[in-house]
Amino acid sequence: MSQDLSSNSGLIDEALGWLVKVILRRWMELGVLLGIYCSYLYLDKRVGSVFAVVIIVGVICFLFSIRTIRRAVFGFLFRQRWQHKLETAVALSNSPISSRIPVVQKAERKSSSTRLTLQLKSGTTISDLERIAPELAVHHRLGAVRVEPNNRDLSVVYLKLIKGSPLSDGVALWPGKPGEIRSILAGVPIGIDEEGEIVTLYLAERSFLLGGEPGSGKSVTLANFLAYLIQDPTVDLYIFDGKPPELLSWKPLAKGFVGTDINAANSMLDTLHDLMNERYRVLEELRVKKVTPDLGLSLVVVVIDELPYYLRNVDVRAAKEFYNKLQDLIARCRAAGIVVILSAQKPSTDAVPSLLRDLIPVRLAFRCSTGDASDTILGNGWASQGYSASSIPLHDRGVGFVLGESSIPKLFRSFWLDDDTQSEVIKAALELRGWSGSGDSGDQSDSGDSGDSSGSGDSSDSSDSVNTPDQSDSSDSGDSGDSSDLGDSANPSRKGWK
Ligand SMILES: Nc1ncnc2c1ncn2[C@@H]1O[C@H](COP(=O)(O)OP(=O)(O)OP(=O)(O)O)[C@@H](O)[C@H]1O
Ligand SMILES: [Mg+2]
Repeated sequence: MSQDLSSNSGLIDEALGWLVKVILRRWMELGVLLGIYCSYLYLDKRVGSVFAVVIIVGVICFLFSIRTIRRAVFGFLFRQRWQHKLETAVALSNSPISSRIPVVQKAERKSSSTRLTLQLKSGTTISDLERIAPELAVHHRLGAVRVEPNNRDLSVVYLKLIKGSPLSDGVALWPGKPGEIRSILAGVPIGIDEEGEIVTLYLAERSFLLGGEPGSGKSVTLANFLAYLIQDPTVDLYIFDGKPPELLSWKPLAKGFVGTDINAANSMLDTLHDLMNERYRVLEELRVKKVTPDLGLSLVVVVIDELPYYLRNVDVRAAKEFYNKLQDLIARCRAAGIVVILSAQKPSTDAVPSLLRDLIPVRLAFRCSTGDASDTILGNGWASQGYSASSIPLHDRGVGFVLGESSIPKLFRSFWLDDDTQSEVIKAALELRGWSGSGDSGDQSDSGDSGDSSGSGDSSDSSDSVNTPDQSDSSDSGDSGDSSDLGDSANPSRKGWK
């Protein structure tokens, strides 16, 4: 008998505890319901139960017809839903933060994810949330949960709850339009992230390194860069195609183009150095610190595909010369309005010296075979923190981590640019520059000089390496040294890269 009584009181305690928990968790919702019930009681006494219901329903409908109120209510309910889910995950993972559960301040629904903005309570850190993330993913059948800090306020943390595996499903088509004129200052959209948002990279004053195993998607991403760059007619392109014929189709648009001829590559670096030095001279004269769009100078973009080909060339002397020139260019190009984009299958220290890598702030790591290889691209330590390009499945071509725009690596999938669209983009860009009549569009006739060795040894003649689509305009720019290239682009009639 006494056992029965004690087990009954245990049950009652449990039920009361549960009730208190529900009231505490749902006090806002219960408060609203209580308010509605009190209004009903009040109106019932005055106008009768039927009119009371009609009035209450009418008021609720009226309030819901106002968009701001509707959004606020649904937003609140959505936030509360995730607040409860978070509490459940904390309870299930036996986390010590059960009495200091972060508050969901904002919950945004995106195409393939939900992004929560959490306010941490004192005594809780971002690592506490990292510990409950797996529980949250399992309990709510999510593909991944990512925890990101807010660098301006460490008490605010973002939780990205990703449904399924959005980057593995299908292909993200290049969203641009051939023939569109687009300022490079608007950035280059290179793909989509796990939340379905467009990832945009800004070029001015930056250098980029793309790395990843063969076939991981570097060249497709480079094509993304190029397709947008050429939509700005004020951009001057210089291409080093270390793995022909990957970039050959862009040749007609390039002011300078070299293939696998290391001497021609060194000559083109000389041209770029002269251009850079001349720009520094102009900056000194004008007493300004860096090239800006209003100076009327073009943004010069230098693309080097398969960099280790040049750095580890069989011609050791020429390779060393290439390294020294490139290092100097990357170190000083920022203020001169020159952007360098490098790509390498294996940017390990033996292939790309760390001195060079360290000068590059924006890194894109596509699939790699090991965490160490991933770290050589993103930087030391990221793999151990869960950001390793070796975790990217083999079939996920074009998927990689990008680091630079955000403080932690962000997973993305580059846009896919098919051959037909690429040809249309190139054709339209040539027309935009009035170069369509030059006829030598890269496919083709001159592919020899892009590549292998036609000019081997003849490094003095850089006309081999410098393509001049608009001959009248730039025929003299190829021969390094006279800086007419700069004079040309410094023409005030040019609007600059805005
Ligand atoms: N964003 C993407 N969407 C869909 N498919 C892609 C994407 N990126 C790459 N691929 C596929 O992967 C293949 C290899 O891509 P890509 O040529 O860019 O690799 P890579 O890293 O440049 O290789 P390599 O180092 O050998 O030059 C492409 O031909 C394409 O089929
Ligand atoms: Mg490639």
